Amino acid sequence: MDNNILLRIEDLKVHFLTDRGKVTAVDGVSFSVAPKEIIGIVGESGCGKSVMVQSILRLLEHTEAVKYSGQILYDNKNILESPLSDIRKIRGNDISIIFQDPQTSLNPVYTVGNQIDEVQILHKKVSEAEARKRSIELLHLTGIKDPKQCVKQYPFELSGGMQQRAMIAMALACEPKLLIADEPTTALDVTIQAQILDLIVEINERMGMAVLFITHDLGVVSEICTSVKVMYLGQIVEETKTDMLFERPLHPYTQGLIKSIPRFDGNREDKLNVIEGVVPSLYDVPKGCRFSTRCPYADEKCILEEPPLMETDDINHRVKCWYYKEVEQGLRVKEEGEKPNV
Ligand SMILES: Nc1ncnc2c1ncn2[C@@H]1O[C@H](COP(=O)(O)OP(=O)(O)OP(=O)(O)O)[C@@H](O)[C@H]1O
Ligand SMILES: [Mg+2]
Repeated sequence: MDNNILLRIEDLKVHFLTDRGKVTAVDGVSFSVAPKEIIGIVGESGCGKSVMVQSILRLLEHTEAVKYSGQILYDNKNILESPLSDIRKIRGNDISIIFQDPQTSLNPVYTVGNQIDEVQILHKKVSEAEARKRSIELLHLTGIKDPKQCVKQYPFELSGGMQQRAMIAMALACEPKLLIADEPTTALDVTIQAQILDLIVEINERMGMAVLFITHDLGVVSEICTSVKVMYLGQIVEETKTDMLFERPLHPYTQGLIKSIPRFDGNREDKLNVIEGVVPSLYDVPKGCRFSTRCPYADEKCILEEPPLMETDDINHRVKCWYYKEVEQGLRVKEEGEKPNV
């Protein structure tokens, strides 16, 4: 694999076999992560963001009913075919994940300090004293008021918010090559959120740690991400550099997401735009463009034929829409109101 590529996902599909039949939560996703890159992943609830990133560490395998296809290449190996013993070596060492549920990452039988020290002693070859010093510093940076006390406590002695911070501290302690952050800070208050983002950016700049950052907050994306992938119903529908996404969103779905960012300019008349309709069920995926059931520009072709993720005139910008050029040039009429049932 190219030296400039840390991780490469190739046509990833993730299927769940449920009582009602097979659903494909991630359907043909491909992209590469370069060292130092911070990639934002956005899209409405249920679009497959978590399932996709959890596949990278094979965290879905507690359910019998998951099936993968495609490749996730890391260190010249396909993660999807590696034995779980190899994956365990990658987890929390080369690739760390932080997400909203801290319970699953902290070990109940060790103190918080021991756990954060341990990853550093193992992966960074530092002394116990150095590790403890950094553990206290990291807990402090994630907003824990009394970190010297916290290192001596067991996870059950901490509140949910404190466990969340301890998990973030632990994931960052080993300074992984890739950090996967799945809305890790949404439950925390704004000041702490900002502090944690600063910490992530600091390690990114100092160590070249790449980040896959899932968030609903496009403000955070514009602040820290170098590029963005927009997901809709298991697929990437637009990908580009962050500046470009805000300057020139090409997919009608991305345009809808950007228009629905709340603006706090004090003007109460300023109605929040929402994208009409809901994400279709995975049991009933539209045949053509998946967004066609909600897209104001969709026509017959959109309903019947699935567009590819196409190249645009900008080498870094790809979009999965038949009519993105016409929409950009104002050549397509927007249909208002309910979409016909298709
Ligand atoms: N074990 C499972 N069995 C069946 N379907 C599943 C399973 N896990 C996830 N799904 C489905 O996969 C789809 C994608 O879920 P995922 O959690 O990745 O969405 P998401 O984009 O992370 O949403 P959110 O923004 O709410 O976190 C959803 O429709 C979900 O119901
Ligand atoms: Mg999720």
